[in-house]
Amino acid sequence: MRRPTPAVGVLAGAAALLLAGCGSDSGSSSSSEGSSGQGGITVSGAYMPQPVSDDMAAGYLTIANDSGTKDELTSVTSSAGEITMHETAGGAMQELTELPVPAHGQLVFKSGGNHLMFDKLKRKPKQGQIISVELHFASSDPVVVKMPVKSATYVPKTGH
Ligand code: CU
Repeated sequence: MRRPTPAVGVLAGAAALLLAGCGSDSGSSSSSEGSSGQGGITVSGAYMPQPVSDDMAAGYLTIANDSGTKDELTSVTSSAGEITMHETAGGAMQELTELPVPAHGQLVFKSGGNHLMFDKLKRKPKQGQIISVELHFASSDPVVVKMPVKSATYVPKTGH
């Protein structure tokens, strides 16, 4: 009874807020993983765990919208292969055709949730490589993201 479920939910929310604060402070030290576009869209924390499969992989990133206008992510493209946007709902993956990026909000792709699904990859991504992907929005200009390939077991830091 030390941790009733509702309190855990609240804590998780607080941790997410703390993380967002940390991210903007320590962004310069994590080097070139983020990139900026016009229209208040910024992308951070992009990575791809080195895939097991030869031609399929997942990718994760966070899209922040600093403007007062909501936008939508409408597609993601790459010369490396085909990319679709997926959500994980009840343990099953479902393809999405657009995802909202709320005004002054974030669209988060992370393990176990929304993810970018790479398919028909021309060659298997290896740790240390960089995959270039282009995000397309309903309103904002496209944003090019350099997505580093991490180890297969890489997990982004979720707290201190
Ligand atoms: Cu998927």
